[in-house]
Amino acid sequence: MAVVDLSQLSPLAATPAGWLETVLANFDDFLMDHASAEKKASGMAMSMVSHYPDQPSIVRAMVELAVEELNHYREVMRLILDRQLTPAADLKDPYIHALNGQVRKAAEHFLLDRLVVAAVVERRGAERFALIADNLDRDPALARFYRAIAISEKRHWELFLDLAIKHFDEQVVIERFNELTEREAQVIKTLPLRAALH
Ligand SMILES: [Fe+2]
Ligand SMILES: [Fe+2]
Repeated sequence: MAVVDLSQLSPLAATPAGWLETVLANFDDFLMDHASAEKKASGMAMSMVSHYPDQPSIVRAMVELAVEELNHYREVMRLILDRQLTPAADLKDPYIHALNGQVRKAAEHFLLDRLVVAAVVERRGAERFALIADNLDRDPALARFYRAIAISEKRHWELFLDLAIKHFDEQVVIERFNELTEREAQVIKTLPLRAALH
């Protein structure tokens, strides 16, 4: 599969100051939210399979991704249950809601926007999981876990862009990705700090 030229992508805005401290101070809450984010990521991948059954490249990639995200979910759930926490019901994620609102519904844009929004979301996830991994000296095993998650989310955002350029002109993909990256930077500034991925 052709790979996107990463050098043309706008840089990711830094995560707001205070987010990491909020997460580290309320790590049990963060784990609950993380589990729910992984479950939703797996569901999103399966919804792509349902929406584009006639696109082999999408079906192949999304089935793999759904399983991988479900594995992440299982691993986070194990951490939650080992801590004897009671998993909470999923909450609406205002960040995902705001970005999904950027998906244009017209057929010619819908697939592009879904792939690009997914890439933006995975890129933020990769950044934040790496931040956590870098700051978990108190728990080396947990740090290793978050390092592995960060590496796999980095692979995911590149996968979504590679899929996008398989279906659309690379410059169109890069332009849309940069637009939504700018939008995402505004969104994260407006959201309250929570012990959550977003
Ligand atoms: Fe994941
Ligand atoms: Fe992912």
